Amino acid sequence: MILTVQEAVRALSLGKTVVVPTETVYGLAARASDPHAVAEVYRIKKRPVNNPLILHFSDVETIKKYTSLPDLVDSIASFWPGPLTLLLPHGGRVSGAITAGSSFVACRIPDHPLLLQILKALGEPLAAPSANFSGASSPTCVEDLDTALLEQTAGVVDGGPCRIGIESTIIRLEKNRFQIVRPGLIGAEALRSAGFLEGGAEKPIAPGQAERHYAPRVPLILLTDQSPGQHRVELKDCCYLDSGQGRFASSAFGQRVFLSRHGNLEEVAHNLFHAFHATSEIRFLAMEMLPEEGCGPAINDRLRRAATLTGKISADGLAVYVQKL
Ligand code: TXA
Ligand code: MG
Repeated sequence: MILTVQEAVRALSLGKTVVVPTETVYGLAARASDPHAVAEVYRIKKRPVNNPLILHFSDVETIKKYTSLPDLVDSIASFWPGPLTLLLPHGGRVSGAITAGSSFVACRIPDHPLLLQILKALGEPLAAPSANFSGASSPTCVEDLDTALLEQTAGVVDGGPCRIGIESTIIRLEKNRFQIVRPGLIGAEALRSAGFLEGGAEKPIAPGQAERHYAPRVPLILLTDQSPGQHRVELKDCCYLDSGQGRFASSAFGQRVFLSRHGNLEEVAHNLFHAFHATSEIRFLAMEMLPEEGCGPAINDRLRRAATLTGKISADGLAVYVQKL
């Protein structure tokens, strides 16, 4: 069911869960103060309870009520509203159900006008993981939402296609040093130009980053130049996700979907998950890794987790020899 902002605010106030738009991906939201609704998020998503949730806020003042923000937050806050999530010490002010028992809580101010309206009207944060079943890739538009998930919620606020298309960068900040826990559109260069230095104590782990996930509807083959596997897959059975770099482009592919025409990495990020959701008759997706510049590392991180096969194109150019990753 499609909800207006007012209907979403009412549903959330009544303890229901709602799918909300953000600039990165759609989120499955519950009021942070409502333990029953938060438990519903884990149940609906089939998410392991040891995988904590991100809190979404409307402003920095509200974040200060729940966490200890470091002094340098002004420069960090220049990224907000936006796709940057900070791991902050909460000193017991956030429920263990949201943090999975960690002394840190993940916080961000999302850059989507409809979600900001909802957050302001509620006056409290929303706990919201991406609105997909655990292990699947994140939805970046309402059409890509799994109906079996949506049916278990009060409905969705349609905010159009997500501007960015991959999840936020997650960092841990210690004094003026940052560590990237999950790469995203905001990369190390941007954080360095805001006056921060990379590195620090032991790198924290995001439990959700441990497993293989972002699974597309059909197996994804990572194309490489390295030695081929044993199993032959015909290119006519593959859809080539073309990032505009054209490295493996070939007319022998059964289908070709452009993620970007001119190799623009932000455009590739914007279109990637939508391509993963495509429901054509094709048996395999095929794509190569992108250069490690700009948001390349963030896209490559998703590709590494999403792919189950790696493969090299055969000498006759009609097939790819694959092996399991
Ligand atoms: O762009 C985004 O971040 C989207 C939108 C909806 O805001 N949200 C999102 O949430 O991607 P989710 O739950 O799909 O991914 C959150 C990641 C998980 O890998 C989780 O393990 C990690 O953040 N995380 C959350 N709280 C954490 C904490 N306290 N310490 C370490 N990792 C944490
Ligand atoms: Mg997720």
